[in-house]
Amino acid sequence: MAANSTTTIFSRISQDIPVNFINIAAASAVGLLSAFFYSTLFSSRNDGIIDIGGVSSILTAWPFFTKRYDFLKSNFQKTREVIFKFKILHHTVVAIRGEEGRKAFFDNKSLNFSEGYKILMGAAPRLSDISMNHKNIEHVSWFNKRLAQLLNRRRLEDVLPTLLEDLDRQMTGWGTECTIDPFRNVYDLVFSMTVRMGTCDELARDPVAIKHIQSLYWTLEKSATPTALLLPWLPIRANKNKEAATKELFSVFQSYIEQRRNSNAPRSDTIDVLLADGLDNTAIIGFILAVLFAGVINTGINSCWALIFLCTNKEWRAKVQAEVNALIANHTNTTSSDPLHKRPATIPVSVWEDETPCMDAVIRETLRIVFNGTLLRRNVEEDLGIKDKTVGKGAFLAYQVADVHLNPDIYRDPLVFDPDRFGPGRDEDKKAQYAFLGWGAGRHY
Ligand code: HEM
Repeated sequence: MAANSTTTIFSRISQDIPVNFINIAAASAVGLLSAFFYSTLFSSRNDGIIDIGGVSSILTAWPFFTKRYDFLKSNFQKTREVIFKFKILHHTVVAIRGEEGRKAFFDNKSLNFSEGYKILMGAAPRLSDISMNHKNIEHVSWFNKRLAQLLNRRRLEDVLPTLLEDLDRQMTGWGTECTIDPFRNVYDLVFSMTVRMGTCDELARDPVAIKHIQSLYWTLEKSATPTALLLPWLPIRANKNKEAATKELFSVFQSYIEQRRNSNAPRSDTIDVLLADGLDNTAIIGFILAVLFAGVINTGINSCWALIFLCTNKEWRAKVQAEVNALIANHTNTTSSDPLHKRPATIPVSVWEDETPCMDAVIRETLRIVFNGTLLRRNVEEDLGIKDKTVGKGAFLAYQVADVHLNPDIYRDPLVFDPDRFGPGRDEDKKAQYAFLGWGAGRHY
């Protein structure tokens, strides 16, 4: 009865009052309600940044760990801001989007790379977690210097024949049915290539040991659960697994380092170079773990997707095939009786770099579509102004790469695989500063 009369009153009102007025009144009511709702839910303190708050900071922030992309996107939509913040335990995390925030994120000296990833993203083991003496080895600039020493052009050329042998041996094991599961088979290749580059021949030649290390690696990746990241001291299974896997990795690598230390056969594998430089076991293991955790996921996932995109795109598959054929024809001995997999070993690195524009475009486009994670920093030095807001010292910053990589104002039809978009005439990646972030951008550490 009451419902009936209410309906009647509304239907009468709607008959009596012009439609426009109703729309305006309804819009105003919605506007007022939203304003009330947002001012209650989202508050901004004197730093000018909207705080998405919530009843419990853990509940608000949980999707940051479980559905990071959706969490950031939906909160930018709700707040209609280019910057908002929330709490994770006692830490403030500031999410930013847009060109100005992006420039600050990549250029500002106060923002620290390693500190950013330390607490909020923790698959990589820290030797400090198992009470090892770790000194500076978790410092990214220390790691960068060592990488430059060990992964330079000359060393790549030296190791290329061995890498090709490793690949051939593993791919022969795939059989002749012409079907593979890239997310298993290609990952395996990437893992063993990374071990080859980051350790020593004894280990790189031992498939059983590599499998063991790979399973410990995945234990660590899987133990980076939200609870484990937030409460690393809690004796839950994920934390115990992480500690056990880190200890086991330490002991496996230690045994190979000792073998190299006591060997009379001189070699110049990574472990040998680091030993010759006087590094102790802990520092060498720190380096190897950093290589595995920096290298495997990104290289693995993008190699898989590049192959998948090529399988589904005839035009680019033909272009890449023609490019590979031209490399073999122009830079290897075509009359050689060597098996085909050995021949690319003689191609200089400079040729790989200069004469593979199609592969380059395919990799770039794969990274643009696939690499859409969230990059992190921590503001370690002083309060930092972004637009008219202030990011306090100690706060974390989060930048979601899709802000540029999947932005239709920068990349036309952003979900379409179209490597031509980087070519002359289109140059879509030049439309905004730092519009392509596949290999990182701005300051290095
Ligand atoms: C397809 C493969 C790879 C991709 C797409 C990739 C991508 C990236 C990106 C986007 C960043 C910047 C992250 C940020 O700004 O927060 C970065 C940083 C870094 N990556 Fe990679 N990476 C790859 C492979 C590797 C490998 C194999 C290594 C070493 C073994 C490595 C070592 C590093 C290091 C040391 C940094 C920090 C460097 C600095 O900015 O000073 N990456 N990488």
